[in-house]
Order: sequence, then structure tokens, then C-alpha cells
Amino acid sequence: MIELEVSLGDRSYPVLVGAGARHRLLELLPVGVARVAVVTQASIPVDVDPGMEHRVFTMGEGEHGKDLGTVEDLCRDWAQWGLTRGDCVVAVGGGVVTDTAGFAAAVYHRGVPVVHVSTTLLGQVDAAIGGKTGVNLPEGKNLVGAFWQPSAVLCDTEVLATLPPREYRNGLGEMAKYAFLGVDHLPDLPLDEAVAACVACKADVVASDEREGGRRAILNYGHTLGHALETAGSYDLRHGEAVAIGLVYAAELAHRLGRIDAARVVEHRRVVAGYDLPMVLPPEVDPDALVALFSRDKKAVGGITFVLDGPSGVEPVKVADRTLLRDTLDLLR
Ligand code: GLY
Repeated sequence: MIELEVSLGDRSYPVLVGAGARHRLLELLPVGVARVAVVTQASIPVDVDPGMEHRVFTMGEGEHGKDLGTVEDLCRDWAQWGLTRGDCVVAVGGGVVTDTAGFAAAVYHRGVPVVHVSTTLLGQVDAAIGGKTGVNLPEGKNLVGAFWQPSAVLCDTEVLATLPPREYRNGLGEMAKYAFLGVDHLPDLPLDEAVAACVACKADVVASDEREGGRRAILNYGHTLGHALETAGSYDLRHGEAVAIGLVYAAELAHRLGRIDAARVVEHRRVVAGYDLPMVLPPEVDPDALVALFSRDKKAVGGITFVLDGPSGVEPVKVADRTLLRDTLDLLR
């Protein structure tokens, strides 16, 4: 078992990575907790035993369950059960569950402790770490949320074997970005070590910029095109697949801007291809529509902000030349 820490002063918390991590739940619950509200989805084949009085609250399936209606349902169910601030929420699932239950925990009684038991690769290397919680509105994804750090995160790599191949690949798309954020030899690492290395990288970034005032934006590497592809919709792409295409695009764009050399672009393509992730745009994509969507990314502040590799590593960069953005898309055909 690999134990890491997200260092945030008196809100620091441990992240346990390894096969069977879920069985360590009891020892990682906050001291004095009397009861546990377990939140999960019916489709998640992972049981946890908090080792004390608990009740399981099952939320709806898929991204549709990640809404304010579910938050209200959870809070009302918890209130009827008598959950207090001295108790704890345990979210068992992927990003949909940890984001939704985490947000409900952030607002119920103005905040109750939450522990995440992350059951997907995407969740383990990204969603469960760092305290971003939230739900979708009909107007857009993750538009309502809060920063609410968990008390602990358990990344049980044993349960990843139960993931459908496409869901696993979804996580690999997020994992791939860490190969360019300072995790050396990522594709060569055994799974536990690879997950732990990504967690350590994310923990370091979050510890230095919890509320995304600056550096944390690098965790959105590959996401500007990724989000645009997701928003444009109708393409058969999972989030991680869209991010993978976005990573290659970001590399090509950085190359055209003279920030990186051709070998570094090849390195991006090698990592993405090595994870069997897509590197080309869906054939039906309208490049002009994508460029229009870039500026609507909610992380774009004062123009089109990309996260690009360069001599000082990956960093936010403003790109004003829309023709360049448009033409670079043609390199992904
Ligand atoms: N998923 C990006 C972040 O946590 O900041």
C-alpha cells in the first residue's frame, strides 16, 4: 500500500493507493465519527464496511444523477436519518459519485466530513483528489460546486479490474496528461505505482494552489480542446478520450508557437498512442465550431487561455491567433 498526503495545513489528508485499500476505511474515518452515510450507485460492484453503524444511500446512474435534485434527495435522506456534523459521508464510486456526494457533504449542515473510496481510474488519478466538488446544470457541467476537501481518499486498485475496458481507457486519458506534468516514465510503471505517481503529482499541485488561482490550471492540460469536443457533443467520445486528443492538439499548438520541438510532439503522440487513446478528431467535427467553443471554456479568463508545454514546463498561455488555432486542428485529421 502506498500512502501519500495532500498537504493543506490543518485540512491535510491521506491518500491510500493499492490493492484492497477499501478495507482500510475504518482506520481513516475522522476520529469520533459515530455513523456513516455511504453514497454509491447500484451499478458499482464495490462494497465497503465502515465498521460502525451505517446506511447506504443509492443515487441515480450516469452523469444524469449528478444534479441538484440528487443533492436535495441526499440531504433530505440524511436529515431524515439524523446525520450530524459528528458523522461522516463515504462516497463509493467514480467521479459522478464523489463530485455529487462531496458537494452534498459540503453544504449539508454547512459541511460534514467526507471520505472518498474511488472505484474508477479516472476518479483515482483526478476527481477524488483535490476537493473540487459539484454538480451539473442543464446549462453546463460542473456549474455549481464547492471546494470541500475530503478527510481521506482510498484508491483501491483491485477494483479497477472490474471496469469495462472503455471506462478504463477513460481514466488513461487523464493519466496520460501527468506524463507531461512531471511524472517520468509513467507508461512503464506498474498500475499501483502509476496511480500513486499521478496522485502525488496532483497532490503537489493542489497543495500549492488549492483554489486554482494559478498553478492548478495546469491540471487542465489537454482540456481546452477536450471540453470543446465534449460540449460540441454528438461525438462518441468519453472525457478521457477527448482529453487525449486535446493533449496532442496542445502539443502541436505549442510546437507551432515555437515553445517545444518536434521530438516533444512525437513524445506526446507516443504516450497517447501507447495508451491506445485516440489522436484524431472525429471526422464529422466542424473546426470553426470548436474554435468558437474554446472561448466559452469556463477556465478561460480574459481570452482563450490554453495550457501549453514549453521551456518552463506546462503553463497557461493566452493564444489570440484564431487562424492558428483553426489550422492546427487540421494536424489532427
Ligand atoms: N480536475 C482538475 C482539478 O482538480 O483541478
